[in-house]
Amino acid sequence: MLRIALFLSACALALPAAVKKEPFGRTPDGQAVEIYTLSNPAGLTARIMTYGATVVSLKTLDQFDVVLGFDSLQGYLQEQPYMGAIVGRYGNRIAKGQFQLNGKPYRLAVNNGPNALHGGLRGFDKRVWKAEAKADAVAFTYSSAAGEEGYPGKLDVTVTYTLTPANELRIEYQAVASEDTVANLTNHAYFNLSGEPTILDHVLRIDADRFTPVDAGLIPTGELRDVTGTPFDFRKPTAVGARIDAQDQQIQFGGGYDHNWVLNGAAGTLRKVIEAYSPRSGRVLTISTTEPGVQFYTGNFLDGKLTGKGNRKYVRRAAFCFETQHFPDSPNKPNFPSTVVKKGVPLRSTTVWQVTKR
Ligand code: GLA
Repeated sequence: MLRIALFLSACALALPAAVKKEPFGRTPDGQAVEIYTLSNPAGLTARIMTYGATVVSLKTLDQFDVVLGFDSLQGYLQEQPYMGAIVGRYGNRIAKGQFQLNGKPYRLAVNNGPNALHGGLRGFDKRVWKAEAKADAVAFTYSSAAGEEGYPGKLDVTVTYTLTPANELRIEYQAVASEDTVANLTNHAYFNLSGEPTILDHVLRIDADRFTPVDAGLIPTGELRDVTGTPFDFRKPTAVGARIDAQDQQIQFGGGYDHNWVLNGAAGTLRKVIEAYSPRSGRVLTISTTEPGVQFYTGNFLDGKLTGKGNRKYVRRAAFCFETQHFPDSPNKPNFPSTVVKKGVPLRSTTVWQVTKR
């Protein structure tokens, strides 16, 4: 019996994931939206739709959905904070929606006080992407026109989601520009590993010795500050809620965590840098990335007004986001890793989420 079971699970590990496509409704301007379900033989499933190349659900082996979102397309079309979506052309803020590239000034659509946030008024999260299913993956493509939201050059973007036998959702980003431009692509999934109202008891480790302090408008000052002795030190596993209300000026600015950590290790190589664990459920989320940073955001702006999946109200700090990315406002910070995408030189980036249980 045991031998048969071992044999079957070995077969399951060797088999690729399966992909299914279904209609998921239409946008108000009549564009059809499809949803793809990827499932691996071990039982992990991911549902990803063409609107925003959005991760709609990520169900663990025990059928628990670890991401926030909505039951239907309608929920995603209302004003909501980028749940599960790909954000771009530039994830996070560009101060005053302005920057210079090759000596030329550019003005972007401004949508967050005086600043540009997450790609502007209609970023990549609000576009219908094309999709192509592979054996164990779906490749989503979007062609962002030159001048869209103020950005120079056309940018052809491909985001490929692959479900692996190791219970990982692998996200690979590629983008090619027709002219020099700037780009910063990420996924804005909101995770809650236990189904409790908030993630304050989740234990987190971030492998980062430094973070980028911000001003009152959440624009980095340019400093890379040592985390030692601050509420930003997650090098040893620490409960998210342990210091989230500390009388620390940085925490006040974000209303909790809404900051970029400078990840240790060489950017460009895939390294395991984040581990989040729910003591209540035993579920573990591990994140590896090639990106130099992560915006760790604790859902400070959720206020209970949004009703999500299964009629659940999304209250403040109901979930956390790990937006693996380049640092905010990099186009105006010459000391930050560059976000310039040169004409014809592809941007490549990989982030892997693994969900397991202890
Ligand atoms: C990012 C930003 C936050 C907020 C959320 C979405 O994390 O840094 O300030 O905009 O996205 O609400």
